[in-house]
Amino acid sequence: MPEQNYTLLLAQVESILSSESDQIANAANIATLIYHNVERINWAGFYFERNGELVLGPFAGQLACTRITIGEGVCGTAYATNETLLIDDVHNFKGHIACDVASESEVVVPFKTSRLSGVLDIDSPEKGRFGQAEKVLFEAIAKIYAAA
Ligand code: SME
Repeated sequence: MPEQNYTLLLAQVESILSSESDQIANAANIATLIYHNVERINWAGFYFERNGELVLGPFAGQLACTRITIGEGVCGTAYATNETLLIDDVHNFKGHIACDVASESEVVVPFKTSRLSGVLDIDSPEKGRFGQAEKVLFEAIAKIYAAA
């Protein structure tokens, strides 16, 4: 999906969230919506904080690791620092956890509310795939998802 259509994708996410309040159902639909509408990605999904670690939630893509220690990997680091991580080359990120060996770049957006915490994680088989447009898009999606 070209960048200009990210507005449409965000509107679709808003529409999903306006008609359903179940967090797992919404995460599942958001994951597949991202996976099928953002070009050149190979994984999109959620990890949720459960008893002090991140546990795999709804996703689209290849089999993924189920548990990530907070502070480890791209996901655990983004969650621990509460900052979005845009990784141009995952092989240069110390501690990167390789779930799908095809992944070359990654963006992870943390979200934390009083009732729901975790990360939205998107992987690409292309180095440097994610820029500011994707950062803005995925941060907006994570924000409205966590607040819904
Ligand atoms: N690469 C992530 C692990 C999750 S998968 O990419 C789905 C990480 O380093 O935390």
